Amino acid sequence: MSKQTNEFKTRRTQFLKQLGKGVAVLPSAKPALRNPDVAYPPRQESNFFYLTGFSELNSCCLFAPMSKFPFQMFVEPKDPTKELWEGYIHGPEQAQSLFGADRAQASHPETFFDEAFVEAICEADSLYYRVGLDSRMDERIFGLLQRASKKLGRTGRPFWPIRDPLEILGEMRCIKSPAEIERMATAAKISADAHKLAMKLAKPGSWEYEIEALLFKEFRGHGAERVGYNSIVATGSNACVLHYSSNNQQCQNGDLLLIDAGAEYDYYSADITRTFPVNGQFSKPQREVYEAVLDVQKQCVDAVKPGATVHALQEMASELLLEHLLRMKVLKGTKKALLQENAQKKYYPHGIGHWLGMDVHDTGRYYVSRYDEYRPLKPGMVLTVEPGLYFSTGPARYKGIGIRIEDDVVVTSKGCKVLTSGVPKEVEEVEAACRLA
Ligand code: GLY
Ligand code: MN
Ligand code: MN
Repeated sequence: MSKQTNEFKTRRTQFLKQLGKGVAVLPSAKPALRNPDVAYPPRQESNFFYLTGFSELNSCCLFAPMSKFPFQMFVEPKDPTKELWEGYIHGPEQAQSLFGADRAQASHPETFFDEAFVEAICEADSLYYRVGLDSRMDERIFGLLQRASKKLGRTGRPFWPIRDPLEILGEMRCIKSPAEIERMATAAKISADAHKLAMKLAKPGSWEYEIEALLFKEFRGHGAERVGYNSIVATGSNACVLHYSSNNQQCQNGDLLLIDAGAEYDYYSADITRTFPVNGQFSKPQREVYEAVLDVQKQCVDAVKPGATVHALQEMASELLLEHLLRMKVLKGTKKALLQENAQKKYYPHGIGHWLGMDVHDTGRYYVSRYDEYRPLKPGMVLTVEPGLYFSTGPARYKGIGIRIEDDVVVTSKGCKVLTSGVPKEVEEVEAACRLA
């Protein structure tokens, strides 16, 4: 069980309040099979964990603010045989005594949930349930709504509108509490130390998978449960593949190595990218590209403060990168015309960053209501700042160079705090970190 017990309760209170007269159903993650009888490592669904701290799969929560059991859990019943093979099961009793459920019952047979759901929805004006993730669950919920409708008889009222619980939870999760930021700082520190070690140990002849294994050992060795996403360890021109995942090539003398990797600690992820020369020294063209990306990255980090928007940061990064591309003679023409045609997009094809938290691409709106009303940053938001330049095509001088620099920043009342400042990013610091071996 996570240590945040009180925080889970506070979140549930807020969530129940915002549900109004609605009822919410939040299923846990389900076991995913990688072979007929071998499962992938389990990881609880983030919204479910955010509200419960409960990591067992095959569970479900029912939130019904108007019921005498506002927070109900449906969990695996105790089962000595299953526990012998797969480990401890808390069971319904402990779901109440340890996890704070107002009522807890077995998740199978399904009749316990079905009856509780029908009873709750008959009192409610709407259903908060994410449609489309699990077709079996969708069918079951739709069937239960029909059953509830019949039970109510001829009321003349329309069917329950179905809303996405992320309307509420996405926003709650987007603003991090001090306790969450503390966890994110730990994930960032573990990840930063691993990146520093990779700079030190990677050399010409290293294999991408060796470095991936090194990162994983550092993450796990410092208490992180898992990676926040598959590590990208991309040498040479592999760096131009944005979500490169093969990690099976050998670093050549003269290559840059791009590492995009972050640990997940107590359900919070870091997301760091650094790009460095495996032989310890940038070539002239590599340094030119690196300095351009670094300049833009630092200016964008400086611009993170309450009131700024992710959209404005992206516009800023695009314009600054375009200026560098003009100066480097990669693009020719007038800045105004090139900006209008988004010419920088060929070399900078992604966004400046994203919310970061329990999910690497975390929840929360980027827009206020319409897609052209951008949302101002507020203290407690955590986002990445990650400009890059990728020359899978382009002038011979830069061909094959792919560089991204990515930090995690938390918005504060006056500006922002960089959680990942432990990894070098200035040219001299990076070269020094690479030379230490
Ligand atoms: N690591 C994935 C990303 O940077 O968005
Ligand atoms: Mn990222
Ligand atoms: Mn990343």
